[in-house]
Amino acid sequence: MDLSKRDEHLRELMDDPDCDPQRLHATLRRFGLVNKMVSGWGTIYRIRLKELLIGLGRPARVLDLGSGGGDVIAHLAALTRRDGLQVEWTGADPDPRAHDVASRTHVPGSTFLCADADELLAQGQAFDLVISNHVLHHLEPEELTRFTEASRQLATTAVLHNDIRRSRLAYSLYNVGIAPLAAGTFLRVDGLRSIRRSYQVAELSAALGDDWTVSAPAAFRLLAQGPGRA
Ligand SMILES: C[S@@+](CC[C@H](N)C(=O)[O-])C[C@H]1O[C@@H](n2cnc3c(N)ncnc32)[C@H](O)[C@@H]1O
Repeated sequence: MDLSKRDEHLRELMDDPDCDPQRLHATLRRFGLVNKMVSGWGTIYRIRLKELLIGLGRPARVLDLGSGGGDVIAHLAALTRRDGLQVEWTGADPDPRAHDVASRTHVPGSTFLCADADELLAQGQAFDLVISNHVLHHLEPEELTRFTEASRQLATTAVLHNDIRRSRLAYSLYNVGIAPLAAGTFLRVDGLRSIRRSYQVAELSAALGDDWTVSAPAAFRLLAQGPGRA
């Protein structure tokens, strides 16, 4: 497997609007477990998000853009509750199938909207912080620019986009590790395609431009941080 270049032409099964709805539902539900294992939000919360939330000095409003089944909000809400931080969480995803799963999560202090970034902007929405998980690598170049620009316009303080960092080791470990969790889902095929579509630090930095700082906060992870401009 050649992972020296991004395979930007690969399509993920879950991005097909006609994909098997049962498998998609099972995939979205199982993201909860898989994201906890691979997405590094525990580390990103500890080294970056927590200080941004405390720095506000008041209850925060945080948007998860492309929130899928809502599991990242569920995880982060548990961390902020543990630390006594008050956060009003909003998840937004334009896919009604994802919205349906997220709407059933019942995380205290959270709301899920079936909308994309542009719709939220048109509604005049604004948040202290905007985050995303595993969205950037799905997007075509023009979509990436539009999505990241919209995310800044929706945030008054900062934006954190968390995604996979492509490497041969990430691919090999995921290929083995996902086997016990993948039955009845798109997790194996789409996870491996996601790794092949994902960026390395310099690539994402070049794609996003000077306003963004791209770092590698944890194993196999990329974090793009930009200033809000709502
Ligand atoms: C791989 S899923 C990630 C879901 C979730 N963040 C997670 O990590 O489990 C990517 C999600 O991004 C959403 N998405 C794509 N373009 C978007 C946009 N412009 N605004 C908001 N969400 C978007 C898709 O509908 C999809 O649910």
